[in-house]
Amino acid sequence: MKNIWLGMLILLAITGTATAKSGSVSEDTEICLECHATLHPGIVQDWLNSRHAKITPAEGLKKGKLERRISVSQVPEELATVTVGCAECHTLNSEKHKDSFMHADYNVHTVVTPKDCATCHEVEVKQYGKNVMSYARTNLVNNPVYVSLMNEVNGTHAFKGVGSGMTLSPPNQKTNADSCLFCHGTKIEVTGLRTVESDMGDMEIPTLSGWPNQGVGRLNPDGSTGSCSACHARHRYSIEMARKPHTCSECHKGPDVPAYPVYMVSKMGNVYSTHKNDWDFQAVPWKVGKDFTAPTCATCHVSLLVGEEEDVIAERTHQMNNRLAWRLFGIVYAHAHPKSPDTTIIRNKSGLPLATDLTGEPASSYLIDASEQEKRRRTLSAICLSCHGSNWVDGHFERLDNTIKTTNEMTRTATNILLTAWEKGAAKGLSQNDSIFNESLEKKWTEQWLFFANSTRLASAMAGADYGVFANGRWYLSRNTHEMLEWLHLKLKNE
Ligand code: HEC
Ligand code: HEC
Ligand code: HEC
Ligand code: HEC
Ligand code: HEC
Ligand code: HEC
Ligand code: HEC
Ligand code: HEC
Repeated sequence: MKNIWLGMLILLAITGTATAKSGSVSEDTEICLECHATLHPGIVQDWLNSRHAKITPAEGLKKGKLERRISVSQVPEELATVTVGCAECHTLNSEKHKDSFMHADYNVHTVVTPKDCATCHEVEVKQYGKNVMSYARTNLVNNPVYVSLMNEVNGTHAFKGVGSGMTLSPPNQKTNADSCLFCHGTKIEVTGLRTVESDMGDMEIPTLSGWPNQGVGRLNPDGSTGSCSACHARHRYSIEMARKPHTCSECHKGPDVPAYPVYMVSKMGNVYSTHKNDWDFQAVPWKVGKDFTAPTCATCHVSLLVGEEEDVIAERTHQMNNRLAWRLFGIVYAHAHPKSPDTTIIRNKSGLPLATDLTGEPASSYLIDASEQEKRRRTLSAICLSCHGSNWVDGHFERLDNTIKTTNEMTRTATNILLTAWEKGAAKGLSQNDSIFNESLEKKWTEQWLFFANSTRLASAMAGADYGVFANGRWYLSRNTHEMLEWLHLKLKNE
């Protein structure tokens, strides 16, 4: 019981300060805090430091268009004049949540989802629903080509002796959750109830499978997809964190997706590293020049940016693809951006769910056309032009377009070697109904586009030259094709 009293004391201190600042904590949230202030001081402190604990939706709605952070015209009456506390988020739409449970007389759910956030942030949630990230799980697990890559990477291999090779046991759910789905998103399901012992008495809470997870395309127990916590860590929900490149590095760092290291070695990453302490990462709207002088990931891909006279340079977008002309991340080739973020609907000429054929021919009816590409490039260029001249910007993009062309050519060369190996029986591929990722030549071919071509393109797009040359760049594109060809020659000679 001692802890309850301690909790009450902390609560008095908390609600005292929170009320003094502005708005007020709801009575419901006060009850949560009675236990959780001592149970989870880390969570409570993060929340106390957040804007959610300081500003009521009614106050938020009074702000002007550019500085407003809530994007609905009205919030439900019972939520309008209290700060956004534990009860406000964790009991929202609880009837639609399969993870709801009776908890201290409230119908509480653990997994607060984009659908819940939409009560106050409808625009961000709608846009995020059109971002390829919110499809990151289904794009992967519903595409048989990608699943065979996932199985080959995550499965366990057993050696059966010379001549018999290896057999593959597919990965279990826990391995996938620890690997691909860590970033792409798990499916969260309630598998039962468990009893948790605490100083406050025993409590029954649901057991969740696929948890913990903050993957960008997570499938939630209310049927919604995505996790806003991927970029806005709970319970601080800070705009500052989302604007800093570390946030994106969690997922955009490896040799297949090196946007973060590319950015960090670029001159713009250098200016950020040197001067970030003088910049204002909280200001809304974000003023180019006054608040910062070089872009972060958010600046180019997400943020609302204004100029000296509060003239809008770019609207905020959680959709992101409205600033992207190309899909640089090629499986197998880079191509114009897909029309729909759901890439499972795409069929190439051979009927495979891939945006290009193995020859490189794009599945054009599923991809945006040249005029839409041009439009998106103009949207992005407008951002560059707030710090650079048009010569600089156009020259940069001409090089990127050239890099897309040359890296696709090098992917084509590697693919031609692989197709010849399949044709001559030196390896088993599509026509033998075999996985295209399970032999050493196929792994070299995969590295050609997945690592080297992707790295070279990202380096070109975001000015981190080393990642386009000797750090997984053009050197490897060339060396790899030589090794593939040599392997094929040796294999054919030995047969
Ligand atoms: C009487 C004490 C008490 C009160 C009041 C209370 N909780 Fe809890 N809560 C607990 C305990 C104990 C746990 C279990 C912690 C653990 O799993 O280690 C818990 C767990 C939770 C969890 C996590 C469940 C999971 O799946 O991990 C959430 C979310 C939660 N509480 C929200 C709330 C909200 C919202 C309120 C107010 C409406 C509230 N709690 C009121 C004691 C309390
Ligand atoms: C991929 C990273 C990412 C994800 C995921 C993400 N956001 Fe954001 N969010 C950002 C960035 C970056 C900003 C800063 C935008 C700016 O500078 O204008 C931001 C800003 C915001 C803001 C502040 C807007 C303002 O006017 O101050 C809200 C509200 C918000 N996000 C809500 C959400 C919600 C709701 C979700 C889940 C559907 C979500 N975000 C998911 C990156 C993300
Ligand atoms: C703005 C909405 C929001 C508010 C306010 C909020 N939460 Fe949460 N909470 C979330 C989200 C979202 C998650 C799940 C994070 C994720 O997606 O991974 C979560 C997760 C949790 C968990 C499980 C975390 C774990 O690591 O096991 C607990 C416990 C919890 N919240 C308690 C609280 C308490 C106590 C408060 C009040 C001090 C509170 N929450 C306020 C949105 C909120
Ligand atoms: C009941 C309404 C409500 C709900 C639900 C809600 N928020 Fe908020 N949110 C607010 C208010 C109010 C503010 C502060 C507005 C202001 O400062 O003008 C805010 C601000 C934010 C910001 C900007 C923080 C900053 O540092 O500028 C982010 C990001 C954010 N919310 C994300 C979320 C996410 C993610 C969820 C769901 C997990 C969520 N919110 C749920 C009302 C809500
Ligand atoms: C560390 C985070 C992370 C992990 C782990 C991860 N991915 Fe990804 N994946 C990404 C990112 C980021 C992108 C988007 C890259 C880009 O657009 O530049 C991506 C994109 C993809 C795509 C493109 C999907 C489409 O159609 O748009 C596929 C396929 C894919 N990943 C497969 C996998 C497989 C298979 C695994 C596990 C073996 C895996 N990923 C593990 C972060 C990750
Ligand atoms: C939790 C992991 C995760 C985090 C954090 C994350 N991303 Fe992603 N991102 C992904 C995955 C996975 C994909 C690819 C999904 C697919 O192709 O199906 C992706 C795709 C993208 C794309 C390609 C969109 C398109 O339509 O082609 C961009 C741009 C992007 N992310 C930027 C960012 C930025 C900027 C941040 C930080 C503010 C960020 N991401 C944070 C996982 C993440
Ligand atoms: C100077 C602006 C700028 C900055 C800063 C920047 N990017 Fe980019 N990014 C670009 C451009 C330009 C492209 C290619 C656009 C196109 O499709 O024409 C791109 C492409 C991407 C893609 C590829 C999407 C795909 O189609 O596969 C991802 C992912 C990405 N950026 C993530 C990031 C991350 C993460 C950061 C920070 C670590 C970052 N970017 C910083 C300008 C920028
Ligand atoms: C907020 C201002 C800002 C924005 C927006 C911006 N840049 Fe930059 N950029 C800089 C600064 C500052 C430098 C460093 C210039 C120097 O060293 O003199 C730089 C450097 C560069 C470099 C040179 C890299 C090198 O090391 O030589 C390239 C290329 C570049 N930017 C392209 C772009 C493109 C393309 C965009 C838009 C997608 C863009 N920038 C958006 C501020 C910006």
